[in-house]
Amino acid sequence: MFLSNVSLFDFRNYAELELPLERSTTVLFGGNAQGKTNLLEAVALSALTRSPRTQQNAELVRFGQQAARVTATVQSQDGLEQVETRILMPPEASSGRVLRQFRHNGRDCGPAGVQGCLRVVLFWPDDLQLVKGPAEGRRRLLTMLLSQLDRVHARWISQYQHLLDQRNALLRAVRDGRQNAGQLDYWTGGLARVGAQIMVDRQRRVLELQPLAAAFHRELSDDRERLELRYRPSGARIGEAPVELVAQQLEAAMAAHREEEIARGQTAVGPQRDDLEVWLDERDARQFASQGQQRSAVLSLKLAELHYLAEATGEQPVLLLDDVMSELDPSRRERLLAALEPGPQALITAADLKDLPPSVLEHAAVFRVERGTVHA
Ligand SMILES: Nc1ncnc2c1ncn2[C@@H]1O[C@H](COP(=O)(O)OP(=O)(O)OP(=O)(O)O)[C@@H](O)[C@H]1O
Ligand SMILES: [Mg+2]
Repeated sequence: MFLSNVSLFDFRNYAELELPLERSTTVLFGGNAQGKTNLLEAVALSALTRSPRTQQNAELVRFGQQAARVTATVQSQDGLEQVETRILMPPEASSGRVLRQFRHNGRDCGPAGVQGCLRVVLFWPDDLQLVKGPAEGRRRLLTMLLSQLDRVHARWISQYQHLLDQRNALLRAVRDGRQNAGQLDYWTGGLARVGAQIMVDRQRRVLELQPLAAAFHRELSDDRERLELRYRPSGARIGEAPVELVAQQLEAAMAAHREEEIARGQTAVGPQRDDLEVWLDERDARQFASQGQQRSAVLSLKLAELHYLAEATGEQPVLLLDDVMSELDPSRRERLLAALEPGPQALITAADLKDLPPSVLEHAAVFRVERGTVHA
């Protein structure tokens, strides 16, 4: 698939932008705070229905404006598709919420109606923390990958988040004596059922992702290191267990933690606490990996994500590389560039054109980003 046009209206620091894109690589360069990341964020929002950068949708609307709009035109096997995402601020002085609205080919729909039309793999400086940083980043990687592969998974994730918010609010109400603990059972059962679906899915996908990541890492380490991904579900042991059994385990784990959950006002187990550990030669990379090993492991994960998406869907996703070239040493950079060869469309940002190798610039459409405008 490829993105043939991006159009923005009052999105972040863009008042209005109309950007036709080529199938080839696009390079976006410019100084700090000009709008390079914002533009990639807009593309990622079209693919994921949420910003990968913030949970606060209001941040996406240009300062002082009422609504933002991002329209992505995608050429895929299924033909030309248009995905429109709008973020609407509540009327001033009202206590309403920020709304997201979606349109697929001009027709109103829910988030599921646009999911899967555009698939992206995002690689940005934050990802360099993927191995050593908090589990949240690794969970986000799984959610971004799985939601793009499967609309049903995306729906489970949003259902789960909704149920989790409700249950946590109830836990606090019980703690504060506003509700009685008997009310919890209903939400516990619902949460466990949806959580189990997510976890069983994660387990299966990680097993499929694992050999790809291991192969890339072997290559990047000149055949010296063995990388392994270990999914660590929170509150359940999955193995071959069917969804119902995992749900029962989750329910039992919540029951066992009830006192603690009430005291903290937070659900103690479930996919929001999962981790995806990266092991190198039988050791947890969080503790032992050197800077260089971490970078190779992160790059292997990202390349695995790209290949897995392409294999599972039969189409190359769009690769979004935000300012990562300058962070990688020449040999890792070469490996990343080799991934562009089979032809995924790539949008690459850089502060300076000097950060990019001539082999990329030669075949790329190059644009300068300046204060929320893009010009050739
Ligand atoms: N809602 C908004 N309305 C207007 N401007 C915004 C909004 N959100 C962010 N900005 C502005 O966008 C700019 C940051 O843009 P962006 O993150 O795309 O920069 P960048 O070009 O990627 O820079 P760097 O090279 O430092 O990463 C900041 O100046 C910020 O104030
Ligand atoms: Mg940036």
